[in-house]
Amino acid sequence: MLPMILAASTQRTIGWVLAVVVIVGFLVYLLFSFRIGKRELGSEVELAANRKPYFDDDELETFRLDRALVWSLVTLTAVSMILPVYWLMEPTRQENAIVDWVQRFEKRGARNFEDACSSCHGPAGVGGVAAFTLVDTEGAFVAQVEWKAPALTTVLSRFDEAEVQHVLDYGRPGTPMPAWGLPGGGPMTSQQVEQLIVYLRSIQLDQETATAQIKSGIVAGARTIVTAADAELTDATDIEAAAEAWLAQASDPTSDDYLRYGELIFNNPAAQGANSCARCHTPGSSFGAVDEATTAELIENWPKLVESGILTGWQAAQGHVGPSLEGVAAHFPTAARQEEFVRIGSEVGVGFGNARSGTGMMPGFGGRVDADVIDYDTGGDAIYSRILTPEQIAAVVAYERSR
Ligand code: HEC
Ligand code: HEC
Repeated sequence: MLPMILAASTQRTIGWVLAVVVIVGFLVYLLFSFRIGKRELGSEVELAANRKPYFDDDELETFRLDRALVWSLVTLTAVSMILPVYWLMEPTRQENAIVDWVQRFEKRGARNFEDACSSCHGPAGVGGVAAFTLVDTEGAFVAQVEWKAPALTTVLSRFDEAEVQHVLDYGRPGTPMPAWGLPGGGPMTSQQVEQLIVYLRSIQLDQETATAQIKSGIVAGARTIVTAADAELTDATDIEAAAEAWLAQASDPTSDDYLRYGELIFNNPAAQGANSCARCHTPGSSFGAVDEATTAELIENWPKLVESGILTGWQAAQGHVGPSLEGVAAHFPTAARQEEFVRIGSEVGVGFGNARSGTGMMPGFGGRVDADVIDYDTGGDAIYSRILTPEQIAAVVAYERSR
């Protein structure tokens, strides 16, 4: 409210200053012209315009008149040409103005991003890490960890812009992501937040790159599985082939390895976990508790993790930013309903599973279909890349329902 009042009163002050300048100027003008008018300069016979001889009728009615007529024709033509041209150009001018503003926002957003975000999220949002101090409920030191800051290059595939704005305004309590917007007590105006979102649009991956990135994380998991199962497997090409073969059979819903395949998708480490489920549903996943062994190591280094209840052991899918998925099958009567939820994510005020009202903070993984997904450069339709295929969503849901 205060800035608005201030803005209104500055505008009014400027208005008053202008008005005073105009009035004073006019008075000064009157004063001088009055005095000049009073002064006697010379003989009226010589000075008055109407006393001087002008062109005679012959010249006025031929050459002079023709010239005046030609000029009026020229100006009339110009005016009549300009009007339709104006009507033709105006829509394009308006479109260009919008694109121009979007580009200006994008540029400013890029600058803000480098200043405020890239230290954690990496240059151009490719993902990074944030040093973070974990404290208990009393604020006492628990551990110093490296928290993965997810890549932001598929964030608009998972959240709509209002949801991203919410994260930027309020941050993610309990994680290193601070509040940036004024509503959350941060330093940025809503326009700066909007500029960041416009910038985020420009760094989203196309479908091919996004798919390859997600696959790279799943293959990395498969590699670990096949090398653990076969100690003789050391040659890189052999490992790659074995991992591919393992995935080919495990992704079949009738395979004994199907749930492990779903688990790989759940824990996908690519892009600093951006497209995983674990970073929000498994405690400690973002700071290195990615399996039994790494969790044990963390706890050994920082014993207070257990006392504080922050990390009491390997707690796959037991809830962090998102709720525990223990017994989630009871919330969704069929796997298909749960798959639908994972596909679109939660929406503010809309019920899901057995919850009355969503917060919008569960991402959608099946590609966004909402109205604000338009291509701002061409004005045409454009859908952001989809993260998971329906088959992958089915596998991850099967894994969750097995828990
Ligand atoms: C101090 C480090 C840090 C800074 C600075 C920071 N972030 Fe974050 N941000 C994080 C971390 C860590 C997460 C993930 C939190 C979690 O584990 O849920 C995150 C999450 C996010 C998310 C949600 C992504 C998702 O897929 O869940 C968005 C969007 C985001 N940040 C945008 C930004 C923007 C834009 C800026 C700059 C204005 C910024 N962040 C600055 C650390 C940071
Ligand atoms: C950015 C954090 C985040 C990520 C990543 C995430 N979730 Fe969630 N998830 C949530 C939140 C928050 C909720 C609660 C939704 C709400 O309150 O709006 C939730 C709820 C759920 C629920 C419903 C739980 C219940 O008891 O009804 C399921 C199922 C689920 N998530 C599955 C997944 C799967 C599968 C993935 C990965 C493909 C995933 N989540 C990734 C944050 C996340």
